[in-house]
Amino acid sequence: MTINDPINDGHVPVWDMPTRIYHWGQAGLVTLALVTGFLIPTDWLNIHVIIGTLIAMLLVFRVVWGFFGSEYARFGSFIFHPRRVVEHLNSVLERAPAPHLGHNPAGAVMVTLLMVVVGLMLASGYILLGGTYKEGPFATVFSYASGESAGSVHTLLAYGLIGLVLIHVLGVWVESRLSGENLIRAMVSGVKRQTAAAPAWPPRSARPLTTGFVLTGIGYLIAVGLVWSLRQPPAVPRLAPDPIYKAECGGCHWVYHPSLLPAATWRRLMTGLDDHFGEDASLAPERAAAITAWLTSHGAETWDTLPAHRLGTLDPAGPPRITTAPFWKRQHSHIPPAIFKSIKGGPGACDACHTDADSGRFSFRRIDRQHRLLLQPPSPKATP
Ligand code: HEC
Ligand code: HEC
Repeated sequence: MTINDPINDGHVPVWDMPTRIYHWGQAGLVTLALVTGFLIPTDWLNIHVIIGTLIAMLLVFRVVWGFFGSEYARFGSFIFHPRRVVEHLNSVLERAPAPHLGHNPAGAVMVTLLMVVVGLMLASGYILLGGTYKEGPFATVFSYASGESAGSVHTLLAYGLIGLVLIHVLGVWVESRLSGENLIRAMVSGVKRQTAAAPAWPPRSARPLTTGFVLTGIGYLIAVGLVWSLRQPPAVPRLAPDPIYKAECGGCHWVYHPSLLPAATWRRLMTGLDDHFGEDASLAPERAAAITAWLTSHGAETWDTLPAHRLGTLDPAGPPRITTAPFWKRQHSHIPPAIFKSIKGGPGACDACHTDADSGRFSFRRIDRQHRLLLQPPSPKATP
């Protein structure tokens, strides 16, 4: 049986199986991506990235299928003159839309827009991941500034996508009501009533073998790119702490990464060591000078990481602290104080929760969630 041969009760196959799997897969994953993107806390963000990667795989497949799939899956079958789109919308307003076996002209525009916006969201998402968070295949390619710009685009597009999805669902509902054909069911079963004329050209069948070859080629290129990105030097250069700094400042607390404060703040902290947050941490002048020189030459200004950019703008007149910076407080605002109390060193013990703290990266993928999930405030009865 080829496409457009009527099957029982005048229905013809329209949406092939891969197109339907793509459609429902994309619908589910895009919904999940929107929900996770807007709602989950930073330390769960990796789930969002994984969902995005699955969407990218589906979209790449769909683009290839748009060239080698069966008739109504092909892009060629849903390119309409803008005049026909307007005509179709008018016919909907007149409550008598012309029947179409494949996408109607307005639906075709919507499908194209959805694919383009999802594609742009993937691109901006990967630039954000690489530039801002120094994670993923583009960690060494994009700067923090590019990552932040891509982040704004990503958020704007997300709102646009929500709007498009709502219009799409509304359009499907209206068309189904007016045409008497349940379009949602058609996207599940793949068949539609033969009310419209088949296209003037002989319907094309799918070419799965060619699709397989093209996808293998694309997969190979992506693998080459990934191997290349794995062989790049680390996106955040590794910096061993200065031995004097480590020896003198590492006794009471974690050896703070120099990228976490701007040079001016380090300098101020180093001039007040005799009253260091209530402790006397004073040092021999030449050792203090060596530490000051090392900290100020590796301060926040010299790094391209997220914490360096956010903490590097600290008010130089304020306390020389990371944990009182507005950015730090905002990021950790929903962590219960009991959790910080349970950690030796309190909030300042960054490395207790951030397993990559020594690198200065503070990736959302390296947050030890144990403290949030397992540690409950001790019950009063348990304490002797
Ligand atoms: C005698 C112990 C001691 C020594 C030595 C010491 N510190 Fe501290 N440091 C503290 C205490 C106590 C705090 C405050 C901790 C708190 O309130 O949570 C602190 C806090 C800090 C903070 C702020 C952390 C935050 O909460 O944002 C920085 C930065 C810091 N120290 C840097 C240094 C540097 C640099 C040196 C070496 C020159 C040094 N410390 C040596 C005890 C010490
Ligand atoms: C009790 C564990 C804990 C401690 C201690 C802690 N953090 Fe965090 N940090 C978290 C969690 C959890 C998040 C994610 C917040 C969220 O869910 O939005 C986070 C988020 C961050 C982020 C944002 C990461 C991103 O990708 O957006 C930065 C930067 C950061 N912390 C820096 C620090 C620094 C610097 C210190 C030490 C001064 C510190 N943290 C101490 C648990 C901790």
